[in-house]
Amino acid sequence: MKIRENIYHVGVVDWNLRKFHGYSTPYGTTYNAYLITGEKNILIDTVKPYCADEFIQRIEEIIPVEKIDYVITNHAEMDHSGTVDYIISKSNATLICSPKCKENLEKHFHSHYEKIITVENGEQLTLGNVTLKFIHIPMVHWPESMATYLVNDEILFPNDAFGQHLGCSKIFVDEVGIDIVIREAKKYYANIVNPYGNSVKKVMEALKNIPLKMIAPSHGLIWRNTSDIQTIIKKYNDWANNTPGDKILIVYNTMWHSTEKLAKQCYIKATEKFPAEMFDLEIADIADVVAEIPDAKLVLFGSSILHNQILPQMAGLLTYLTGLKFKNRKAWTFGSYGWSNVPFEKFEKDIKSAGFDLLSNGYYVQFVPDKNNLVEIQKIFVEKILGSL
Ligand code: FEO
Repeated sequence: MKIRENIYHVGVVDWNLRKFHGYSTPYGTTYNAYLITGEKNILIDTVKPYCADEFIQRIEEIIPVEKIDYVITNHAEMDHSGTVDYIISKSNATLICSPKCKENLEKHFHSHYEKIITVENGEQLTLGNVTLKFIHIPMVHWPESMATYLVNDEILFPNDAFGQHLGCSKIFVDEVGIDIVIREAKKYYANIVNPYGNSVKKVMEALKNIPLKMIAPSHGLIWRNTSDIQTIIKKYNDWANNTPGDKILIVYNTMWHSTEKLAKQCYIKATEKFPAEMFDLEIADIADVVAEIPDAKLVLFGSSILHNQILPQMAGLLTYLTGLKFKNRKAWTFGSYGWSNVPFEKFEKDIKSAGFDLLSNGYYVQFVPDKNNLVEIQKIFVEKILGSL
């Protein structure tokens, strides 16, 4: 698929992917790769090994694979580097990557690259009739991550940055609708990039002075309209700064619906003032819960107690959140217990360790809440929690 004169999208849609190392991908994903043809033929990134046949076919609809002169690898993770060796074995192309990427590729594939150019941050290469600039973007989201900038056409190929797990036969954001793509870009950022906000801020600073006519990531849709490019740049700045939104999220894990009853009382009162969403962890996927945190200012966590611990899905969520390092979000807790409420002390401690500002002690009920409990949790929630926002 041509995206500009002599520039082709040769990536593959992975329609059947439903999990990407734990991240739910209900629409599948894409592994985008780009072919620039001209005096030299340049391939930017590759695809997962099991997509190799379709990938080669897509390249060969444009040029024989043997005619590829250079393969640029922006990132060593295997969804983009998984067929680098295969392409090189068929084409004898020269590999271009950062020094760190060379090291990481060798540790993945245990290959020796005879024809290789390692590029430093800011370095430019003129290959035939095109000039490329290489911008290192360490920890967005791996140490060797790099963006390639096509100077002639002002197109940025930033690999995972600005991407979305959104399998789609369309190529451009404006063909699908900005709201859908932003929703998926937010989910991607929250689940994959969020721990590296300080690195993202440096990248956004570096991109400030670079004219961008197109941002072509390695997952999902390509940003080509000026207003869409401005939107995703603004979103990345907000997300990197952990700017809270206005939503209230109520996330709970319940055994016999007691915790759920408490959750519903909070939800009813929350919606009187703010947009709110409720997630039952027996049903909701944690990647979808996390996807809403960038839009939230307050997260309520509720759990029942089993074997003197909070329920396992909630414990898993807290472990996941600890790694994701969200900041600037308030939190409150509630739950139901059988014979000891002591495990809630650890629950509250773990929420603080995950980076949330706990507003007050939680509200906990033995066994099943009665009418008074339901009134009481509403009152505390409205006065102490909503009242402090
Ligand atoms: Fe899409 Fe970090 O790989």
